[in-house]
Amino acid sequence: MHELSIEGLAAGGDGVGHTADGRVVFVPFSAPGDRLSVRLVEERKRYARGVIERILEPSPFRVQPVCGVYGTCGGCTWQHLDYETQLRAKAEILGDALERVGGLRVPDDLRVVPSPAPYGWRSRTRVLAKGGVVGYRKRRSHAVCATSRCPVLVPELDEALAQLARRRPQAAEEWELVAGADGATRTTPLRSPLPEEPRLTVSVCGQRMSFSPGVFVQGNALLLDALARAVHEAAGSGHLAVELFCGAGFFTLGLARGFERVVAVESEGRAVADLHANVLNAGLRNVEIRGGRAERLLAVLGGADAMVVDPPRTGLPPECIQGVAEARPRRLVYVSCDPATLARDLARLAEGGLALESVTGFDLFPQTPHVEAVASLVSDPA
Ligand SMILES: C[S@@+](CC[C@H](N)C(=O)[O-])C[C@H]1O[C@@H](n2cnc3c(N)ncnc32)[C@H](O)[C@@H]1O
Repeated sequence: MHELSIEGLAAGGDGVGHTADGRVVFVPFSAPGDRLSVRLVEERKRYARGVIERILEPSPFRVQPVCGVYGTCGGCTWQHLDYETQLRAKAEILGDALERVGGLRVPDDLRVVPSPAPYGWRSRTRVLAKGGVVGYRKRRSHAVCATSRCPVLVPELDEALAQLARRRPQAAEEWELVAGADGATRTTPLRSPLPEEPRLTVSVCGQRMSFSPGVFVQGNALLLDALARAVHEAAGSGHLAVELFCGAGFFTLGLARGFERVVAVESEGRAVADLHANVLNAGLRNVEIRGGRAERLLAVLGGADAMVVDPPRTGLPPECIQGVAEARPRRLVYVSCDPATLARDLARLAEGGLALESVTGFDLFPQTPHVEAVASLVSDPA
């Protein structure tokens, strides 16, 4: 057994402390300022993993978790931390990744925009069903953690989850639950072939757009407008904007109001179909939609005043980094849900002549260690 103090929170969400002989120990469900008795469960040369045996002195930043399956369910591992501590930790995790992974100078004003509410924010989720049980995956397991209520969901989606659980679906499959405008919700089994209907309408900065089952839609209902506005402001205005990984057009419609021409690239066929419908519905005539992989299409996308990229968690494919640098947009806005891949890509983009100007975190995922970021880059004068 080891007695140690928790000094901070690491990217995966675990607290970090040191044993008396100086070894780093990662401890899940701990809080900065905790004094703990810890049992080591995994020992490596440079670090160890431990579990809390006893809290000797609790951190002042601890709060009572609100969810009945906290600790068993794989989600929301930060419910024991007060919200201010979560926000501070996310700013540190983001800054740390930029500095250590990317070797970048962290802007002094790095901040994380809070979610207007730390619970009741989530408007998109996926749950598993099996043998009449519905829920998320258990932590570090493939088993289903029975969950009929989930306090991070917006109330109408929490109700939709309770309804699904009451149906006791027998088949082993995944379900997508999404909440849209005007209290509407959609509950869809993600079976093959994926149902085409219904499309769900979401309102972003006063503009309505709709999404088919399985198509990516941003998941914090309370920050949709703030996130979209931040990207539109960072992109600015001008003649041509190029948007890669555009999905069904979450940022595209707003970009089309700031630029004379927008070229929007997306690889997933259903999202491309939704984008066509959303552009048509908004009455926009200046959006050119290119269905296909960004890394293949980039070569013909030079001369942009602004480029916006919002890749999946894995970050930009390597050919994309080179393509973006060669396309030399005057400004680049990079939206990321993973600080480590963001930092890696920003470092490579810096070598290609795109310098980081500012970065802002968005707390799209309260009660979890995940952090979204919007980074703004400018092309060095050639
Ligand atoms: C994080 S989502 C963002 C979507 C959109 N910007 C939004 O906010 O709703 C990433 C999108 O990139 C698309 N995608 C993934 N790999 C791609 C690639 N190589 N080229 C183009 N699009 C890709 C996915 O289908 C998905 O729609």
